[in-house]
Amino acid sequence: MQSILIGKAAAFPNPGRKVVEVEGVSVGVFCRDGKFTAFENVCPHMGGPVCQGKIIARVEELIAEDKTSLGLAFSKDHTNVACPWHGYEFDIATGRHQGNPRLRLRPVTIEVVDGDLRVTLPEGTRERIARRRQAPLREVD
Ligand code: FES
Repeated sequence: MQSILIGKAAAFPNPGRKVVEVEGVSVGVFCRDGKFTAFENVCPHMGGPVCQGKIIARVEELIAEDKTSLGLAFSKDHTNVACPWHGYEFDIATGRHQGNPRLRLRPVTIEVVDGDLRVTLPEGTRERIARRRQAPLREVD
């Protein structure tokens, strides 16, 4: 495992997103409220470039005390990235799909060291992604 410099933290847009190439692996880096997260740019559904999708506030249903719906509203606390292939949405803070807790983006370690943004990929990441791309597709329930 090697920590790779990807830029200055202060130069990163906040809120913002960049997709960077790290040792042959596409990584999506997100910033919201000054907090950084990073994920492999591989959708758990069918392998699409999820981190390059539209960034949108999560849509939540407001529920009254009597359990009736008060309609939909944009969340002030959660931001999602929507995969450009089929629209699955994932929270950029946690990588989790909001409707299926078993689905999540694979996190990448990111840290700020002396003002520099550094990501660390486990050994064999590129090979693991390549193997997955060659495997038969499977449906996600
Ligand atoms: S590949 Fe991402 S939603 Fe299908």
